[in-house]
Amino acid sequence: MGASLEEEIKKRRTFAIISHPDAGKTTLTEKFLLYGGAINTAGSVKGKANSKYAVSDWMEIEKERGISVTSSVLQFNYDGYCINILDTPGHQDFSEDTYRTLMAADSAVMVIDASKGVEAQTIKLFKVCVMRHIPIFTFINKMDLEARDSFELLDEIENVLGIRTCPINWPIGAGKRFKGVYDRDTKKVSMFQAVSVGGAKSAAETDYDVTDPALKDAVGDELYSQLMDEIELLDGASDEFDQELVDKGELSPVFFGSALTTFGVQTFLEHFLKMTQSPLPRMSDAGLIDPITEPFSGFVFKIQANMNKAHHDRIAFMRISSGKFDATKEVYHVQSGRKLRLSQPQQIMAQDRKVIDEAYAGDVIGVFDPGIFSIGDTLCTPGKKFQYEGIPTFAPEHFCRLVHLDSMKRKQFIKGVTQIAQEGAIQMFQDYTLGMSEIIVGVVGVLQFDVLKYRLENEYGCDIRLEPLPYNYIRWVKDPTTDLNKLSRISDCKKVKDMKDNPLLLFANEWSIRLMLEHNEGLELEEFRKN
Ligand code: G4P
Repeated sequence: MGASLEEEIKKRRTFAIISHPDAGKTTLTEKFLLYGGAINTAGSVKGKANSKYAVSDWMEIEKERGISVTSSVLQFNYDGYCINILDTPGHQDFSEDTYRTLMAADSAVMVIDASKGVEAQTIKLFKVCVMRHIPIFTFINKMDLEARDSFELLDEIENVLGIRTCPINWPIGAGKRFKGVYDRDTKKVSMFQAVSVGGAKSAAETDYDVTDPALKDAVGDELYSQLMDEIELLDGASDEFDQELVDKGELSPVFFGSALTTFGVQTFLEHFLKMTQSPLPRMSDAGLIDPITEPFSGFVFKIQANMNKAHHDRIAFMRISSGKFDATKEVYHVQSGRKLRLSQPQQIMAQDRKVIDEAYAGDVIGVFDPGIFSIGDTLCTPGKKFQYEGIPTFAPEHFCRLVHLDSMKRKQFIKGVTQIAQEGAIQMFQDYTLGMSEIIVGVVGVLQFDVLKYRLENEYGCDIRLEPLPYNYIRWVKDPTTDLNKLSRISDCKKVKDMKDNPLLLFANEWSIRLMLEHNEGLELEEFRKN
C-alpha cells in the first residue's frame, strides 16, 4: 500500500538555499544530495580544474562565468522525508529570480562564511525572505578555516539582519584548531574529522558526552575551558529555541559546520527537517487553501525557455500548493479560463528530467508551456476558480535600447526578446510613439543584459547591440488613458509603453519625478506594475 495523500504531503519539505557567492551554498547542496543518495560524488562535481560543474549550474553562461543565473530544483528522499531544494542564483543581479523562487519555498537556509559573516548579498536575499515571512535557518560554514568569533557572528546576524538567533550547536575552535561541535540539546560533542573532498559520505564522528573527562584530553585544556565558559554564557544569555518564533521567521536556528569536509551537515539536515513544517495553507482570493483537504492546485513561479539545447521548449515551473497532481487529468488554467492537460510534467534536476505521473503539495514540477503561462498564474482542479496571490515584479533600475543588427531576422529577434521577457529574465518596453520599432529593455541587475545578449545570440541566432539609456527610475502612469504627449516637463524623461500598452515614464532621478508631478496636476505615478 502506498502512503496516503496526507502522509505524502506531510513528509514534504520544500526550501530554498540562499547565500552570498562563495559562502558554500553549492557545496552544502551537494552534500545534502549525497545523503539522499541522489548523486554519488560531491565536491569534485564542481571545480574549474576538471571542468565539471555543480549539478545545479546548467546554463552555458553559468558555466562560463561560474555564477548561477537561474534557480533549479532538486528533489531527494532522506529519512522518510521527501525534500525539494530550490537553488537560487547567488549574484545580486539575479535577485528577482531568487524572489520568485522564494515564493515557492516554505523555508530558507542561509549559508554564511564563518570568516566573513554577513555579506552584502546575504542582506539583500535575507530581506526577500523577510518579505515572505518564512522560517530562516542559518548554517555557518567553513569552520575548518580561520573563522570570526562565534558570538560576534551571532551579534552581526542579529544586528545587521534584525533576526534573533538560537545556536543549536556550538563550535569548539576553528581553522587548524577546529575540534568539533557541541550539541546544546543532547549535550554531546561531535569531534571533527575532515573527510576527503569527494570521497566518503560522512566523517565517522566520535561523540563525547560533555561531562566525559576524556573530552578535555580530546580538545585540549584551553579549548575545553573556553567551551565550558561559552556554554554557560549561551545558556544564560542566548535566545531559547522557540518553534513558534522560528515558524514566524523571527528566530533563526543556527548551526556551525564545514560543508566541504562534510562535518555538521547531517546533524544540520536532521534538526532542520524536524524544525521545518510540511506545506502550509496558502492565501488566494478565495481565502486560505489547505494543502491536504483541497484538491490539486498550484501556481507558476518561473518560466524558462531552452533550458537544454536538446529540448527547444519552454518550461513553466509550478509549485503544487494543494492536493495531488495527476498527469492523466485535466487542470484549469484560471488566467486563460482554459481546461488543459499538462503535457510531459517532469521533475527537473539540473540537466536531467524525469517525466512523472503524479506529484503532491510541496513539490515543484516543470510543465511544458505552450506559450500561455505567465509568472504567478494559478492552475487548479476544474470546477475551482480561485487565484493565488500574484508575484510582484521588481522595478527595473537599468535601461537599454535594443538594436537588432540583422534586419533579415527581425521576426526571430522579436520572438526571442518577447520570450525572454515572458520568463521574467528582463522587462520589455516599447517606445511610446515608435512602438515596437524601438524596443527598450529594463533590468534590476546589469548582468541580466549580458544574459539577454548571450541568449539572443545563442538561442535565437540574433546579433544585437545594447545602447544604455540614462534612466534609473520607472513609473507607471496610474490612469492608462493618459496621453503622455500632453504632459508638461516631459523633455527630461522617456515615454514608453509596456507590452500591454500601459503608458509609463523613465526618469534619471527622483528630482525629475517630483518636477513632473508638480507640473502636471492630477497625474499619479506608480512604482510597481500590478499583474
Ligand atoms: P557558492 O555556491 O555559495 O558560491 O559556494 P561554493 O559551494 O561553490 O563554495 C565556494 C568555495 O568555497 C569552493 O572553493 C568550495 O570548495 C569552498 N568551500 C565550501 N565549503 C567549504 C568549507 O566548509 N570549508 C572550506 N575550506 N571550503 C569550503 P573554490 O576553490 O572557490 O571552488 P572550486 O574551484 O572548488 O569550484
